[in-house]
Amino acid sequence: MFNTAVAVEGDAEAGKAKSAVCSACHGATGVNPNPTYPDLAGQHAVYIAKQLADFKSGTRTDMVMAPMAVSLSEQDMADLGAYFSSQKREGEQAAVTTENSAPTAESAPASHVEVVTSTTAAAIYAGNVKAGQEKSAMCVACHGTDGNSLISMYPKLAGQSANYIAKQLADFKSGARVDPVMVGMVAGLSAADMNDLAAYYAVQTSTEGTGETSQSGEKLYFGGDAKKGITACVACHGVDGKGMTQAAFPAVAGQNADYLTKQLNTFRDSSRGNDRNDIMRNIAIKLSDSDIDELVKYMSSLK
Ligand code: HEC
Ligand code: HEC
Ligand code: HEC
Repeated sequence: MFNTAVAVEGDAEAGKAKSAVCSACHGATGVNPNPTYPDLAGQHAVYIAKQLADFKSGTRTDMVMAPMAVSLSEQDMADLGAYFSSQKREGEQAAVTTENSAPTAESAPASHVEVVTSTTAAAIYAGNVKAGQEKSAMCVACHGTDGNSLISMYPKLAGQSANYIAKQLADFKSGARVDPVMVGMVAGLSAADMNDLAAYYAVQTSTEGTGETSQSGEKLYFGGDAKKGITACVACHGVDGKGMTQAAFPAVAGQNADYLTKQLNTFRDSSRGNDRNDIMRNIAIKLSDSDIDELVKYMSSLK
């Protein structure tokens, strides 16, 4: 079968501009030393475009790539193919490691795939929304009736990725994520309870963010900072800040500001260390106090 993406002429320059979100995992020039991400540099353009079309249609399944491809047009796919195929495969590694902070082979052993094929992923869809609602009675005081916490230090849970919520609850219970309040809340929860709670909150509607936005926060969110090696947040938290549900990349849009600030600070000083492959700690360590302030303004004001 011929894929229609093949028929479109790609433009490498346009592809370069569109590749910013890909760089977090594939490197700015299509080379990443992390063995769990395929190199794209020097790959045939037609092959790249076809893979993207297949990820989009679901012919090729991958929980990380599916959300990446979903919003790409045929033209985008052709442009991205043209860009990556024009890059050199050899001798680019040094440039890549300094230009972006994607997990490297050293910091990220081959466990990345677990993020997307975790056992929780399958279990969540068995989560029972009704049962979750009943179990959420003890959460209301801090997280609100429908997961829209009104207190800025408590996170909103409404509309959050179910996989992400279930992972956090399990992490609080195992001690992988440390919080004196939440550890008491999860002590009596079984894995089934966690899945039910996750299912319930995931289907609630999040209230819109409030407060002023920040242009420099927006710029950092979408573009990262190549000089400081800060990966663009958009790659994993999405263009609208809604995260990537299946990959357990959390939604950050409209999240409470004090909560967001605390999380970026605790990833930065590693007191929060439940992110697989140090994915967030590697990024947060490069953020200044003012980067954090501006990013938080931007994320918390998203609708
Ligand atoms: C969060 C990490 C991540 C991001 C961001 C990402 N990818 Fe991927 N990509 C992967 C992984 C993991 C695979 C391997 C999938 C598999 O095992 O089938 C992959 C596979 C691919 C492949 C197939 C390569 C092959 O040899 O078959 C292409 C093409 C591709 N990605 C292009 C892109 C483009 C273009 C973007 C940006 C629009 C992008 N990716 C963004 C992680 C990512
Ligand atoms: C007494 C207040 C309180 C109660 C009650 C409470 N929580 Fe929390 N919850 C918190 C605080 C505080 C945090 C943030 C912890 C931190 O700063 O890392 C949190 C964090 C979370 C997170 C992580 C959110 C994220 O975005 O990472 C989840 C999930 C969660 N709570 C679920 C629940 C559930 C489910 C219940 C009921 C079984 C519950 N909580 C009851 C205070 C509470
Ligand atoms: C390569 C993927 C990736 C990139 C890029 C990334 N993040 Fe994250 N982020 C994650 C993952 C995965 C988690 C959840 C870790 C866990 O399992 O607890 C997370 C968690 C967070 C949280 C905590 C959310 C919560 O509810 O507790 C915040 C805030 C955050 N990221 C902000 C950012 C900002 C700001 C940037 C850009 C400067 C960024 N992230 C870039 C993957 C990424």
